[in-house]
Amino acid sequence: MPKKTKTRKPAPRIEVRESRVHGRGVYATKPIPKGARIIEYTGQRVPWEDAPDDENNPHTFLFGLESGKVINPEIGGNDARWINHCCDPNCEAIEEDDRIFIYAMRHIEAGQELFYDYAMEIDEPVTEESKKEFACQCGSSNCRGTMLSL
Ligand SMILES: C[S@@+](CC[C@H](N)C(=O)[O-])C[C@H]1O[C@@H](n2cnc3c(N)ncnc32)[C@H](O)[C@@H]1O
Ligand SMILES: [Zn+2]
Repeated sequence: MPKKTKTRKPAPRIEVRESRVHGRGVYATKPIPKGARIIEYTGQRVPWEDAPDDENNPHTFLFGLESGKVINPEIGGNDARWINHCCDPNCEAIEEDDRIFIYAMRHIEAGQELFYDYAMEIDEPVTEESKKEFACQCGSSNCRGTMLSL
């Protein structure tokens, strides 16, 4: 009988905790090199039309895919759903084969919060009112004041 070898799972390099920007956020627990694939944005794929339309729930961020479907992290979501927005992000979300992965855009130190640019799109033209509705609190020097794509 071959001996069973225990393969130790590497310690996760991110954790979810309270954010200074909004609610909970995701932080690096170890240095993450530029270009590293950090985590997949998981969840149930549903057509836009069937996506939950809960305007009062800021925690649900539906990720649009090129297929026209969205990823709903309420079902099958993971820690990626807690990543906050920043106008000067250190991460980016990239679609690959109908999946979304979060990559480091630059070297990230342990203890730094992970952010990507939500570049949110709405059906109506962007107005001062809608910018306020999706106001950004990232605090970066080049903050555009909104999480919307301008
Ligand atoms: C998917 S959640 C991210 C996790 C969120 N911090 C939480 O605790 O639920 C997305 C929501 O977080 C908030 N958020 C994320 N980044 C923000 C920012 N830079 N400024 C203001 N609110 C932000 C918005 O309410 C947004 O709809
Ligand atoms: Zn901002």
